[in-house]
Formats: sequence, C-alpha cells, structure tokens
Amino acid sequence: HPSNPQMEGYFGLRRANCRAKGGAPGFKVAILGAAGGIGQPLALLMKMNPLVSVLHLYDVVNAPGVTADVSHMDTGAVVRGFLGQPQLENALTGMDLVIIPAGVPRKPGMTRDDLFNINAGIVRTLCEGIAKCCPNAIVNLISNPVNSTVPIAAEVFKKAGTFDPKKLLGVTTLDVVRANTFVAEVLGVDPREVNVPVVGGHAGVTILPLLSQVNPSSSFTPDEVKYLTDRIQNGGTEVVEAKAGTGSATLSMAYAAAKFADACLRGLKGDAGIIECSFVTSAVTELPFFATKVRLGRIGAEEIFPLGPLNEFERIGLEKAKKELAESIQKGINFIRK
Ligand code: NAI
Repeated sequence: HPSNPQMEGYFGLRRANCRAKGGAPGFKVAILGAAGGIGQPLALLMKMNPLVSVLHLYDVVNAPGVTADVSHMDTGAVVRGFLGQPQLENALTGMDLVIIPAGVPRKPGMTRDDLFNINAGIVRTLCEGIAKCCPNAIVNLISNPVNSTVPIAAEVFKKAGTFDPKKLLGVTTLDVVRANTFVAEVLGVDPREVNVPVVGGHAGVTILPLLSQVNPSSSFTPDEVKYLTDRIQNGGTEVVEAKAGTGSATLSMAYAAAKFADACLRGLKGDAGIIECSFVTSAVTELPFFATKVRLGRIGAEEIFPLGPLNEFERIGLEKAKKELAESIQKGINFIRK
C-alpha cells in the first residue's frame, strides 16, 4: 500500500536512482525531531527546496504520519520516515546535512537554560548517532539552550574523534530574522532589504544585535536602540507568552531554519559569498564558541568574520553577553566531561 512507509521507501529509492542518473544536483538532508512544532513546518519547507534530493524525517513519535503527509507534495525530494531510536542509524546514514530541532520547548516563566537537563541528553544521543553514521555531515543545531547544546555536540564529536568545527553550526538565524523585521518596522522599509548582524549567543543578553552595522547603513535614536535591542533579545519570550503554555516559536523558527539550511546547501554546492550568522567554534573572542557572520562553503563555515567596529552601547552589551555565555558553554562541556 502506498501509505506504507516501507513501500514509500521502495518507490522513493527508484525515484532517487532516476534522479542520480539524470545528474540532478541534490543533497541528502535529515531532520531529527521532524514531528514537532518546528519539525513539521521545517519538513514542509525542506521538501520544497530544489537542492534537496532525499529528505529523512526522524522522530520518536508520529514520524510515519508526517512522512506520509509531506511525501505527497509534488516536489523533487524523496521523503523517508524513521521512527524511534532503533531507526536512528538508518535515518542518518549517507546524510549531507542534519538539522536538529528535537527536544522540549519553553513554557511561560522558563528560560532556555531550564530546558538543559532534558535537551542535553537528547542532543548527546543524536550526536553519537551522527558521529557513527554521517561524521562528515554539516549539523544545524536548533535544540535549546543552543549556547550549551553546541558545546555538548562538540564534546560528543571530539570523544568520537570526528569533530570538525567547520561543520557544527548553532542556528541563530531566528534572531537575525526578528532583528531584520523589527528594524525594518522602525525604518519603515521592506524587511527583505534589511540585514542586521546579530552576534554572541542565542539567549537573553547573549543575543547582541549590532545596530551600528545594519545594512543599509542607518542611524537610530537612543530610544530606538533600546527598544530594538530589548525586543530582539526577548522575541522568543514574546512568542512563548502569546502562546500561553502551548510552546515557543515554531513557524518563524521553521522559516529561519529553512533559510539557514538553504544557505548551507548553497555553500555545499559551491555558490560564492554565502554569509549568515551562526554560533560556531570561534577565535573571535576568548570564548571557545561565539556567533558572528560566517561564510558558508563546500566544507561548512569556511571563514569566520570578526566583530567589526562596535559602539559604546554594543561594547557594554558584549561584556554582559560574554559573561553569561561563558557559563552556558562550560555547563555544556561539563555535561559530557563529568
Ligand atoms: P516540540 O515539542 O513541538 O517538538 C520537539 C520534537 O522533538 C517532538 O516531536 C519530540 O517527539 C521530538 N523528540 C523528543 N525527543 C527526541 C529524541 N530523542 N529524538 C528525536 N526526536 C525527539 O518542540 P519545538 O517547538 O519543535 O522545539 C524544539 C526545540 O527547538 C526546543 O528545544 C526549542 O527550545 C528549540 N527552539 C530553538 C530555537 C532557535 O532559535 N534555535 C527557536 C525556537 C525553539
């Protein structure tokens, strides 16, 4: 029966072979946590991406349903579903890009750090699978707290002897997406024409929008700077409170994750000048991980850009960000080492 995921796999395989013969460019992408609030719309968006030839959807619940549903879209990517831990290795084998939105989201009153205990263990297990089955894949890590889960993933990969710092990317794109939107609102322009670098990390004061470096060059009053910085840093909480206990950002996050994954795939394909912000292994500050603009290429984050000139307000923000970030990074490292 066509709705049987295994048959879907069989037909999918034939189509995948046809595509390979045709020489169409395409990458193999897995989403881990694909049945979740982020995972489902992200699966939809990745199924629409012409650079994706094979899409693996893994979750511990509901993966067959999401897979059957998304697989009916008449776009190129072949979709296969994988349910539960015993199928993790099959889900990961051969993947070029692995996107991880698995884990629990925030409820009102919770910080991203409150999610640590549950999500740290989930990320460890998934990264052990990646080290074993697709050690060369680019990893886009979404699960919170990103400031700690990226160091956790790095430690898991180091232990396994597969760590490539260029390939481990914490997804902070939603902070940039929000910053572009809010800044465009203040300037009264189209958000597509605005690019705001957001550096540091992905939680509260570690989210540091560099409003002095907005492209196109713009100036803001002190009140606007304060309003924009607060709103960008608390954009996640704005959504958590509006959703009143039913979760955190999922739709805008899926959009942001799809945008970032597409940039990674265009980099893998060899397109030039692909620049996005991401939380990566970095020597830009004294911290081992930091989010800045990076250039994405065939081997991942090929170049990490410096912070550029900061104004007084941003320098103060940077010191605050680094203090909190240092603790979150250490917490992640300790989770694996101790
Ligand atoms: P959700 O609860 O709706 O979905 C999470 C999914 O992960 C569920 O389908 C669940 O079954 C699955 N899952 C749980 N354990 C798993 C495991 N061991 N292996 C595979 N899948 C597993 O949560 P939502 O809203 O999709 O958020 C997911 C994560 O993304 C949360 O940690 C959240 O904090 C984070 N997030 C990150 C953002 C960022 O900007 N980086 C923004 C918004 C959310």
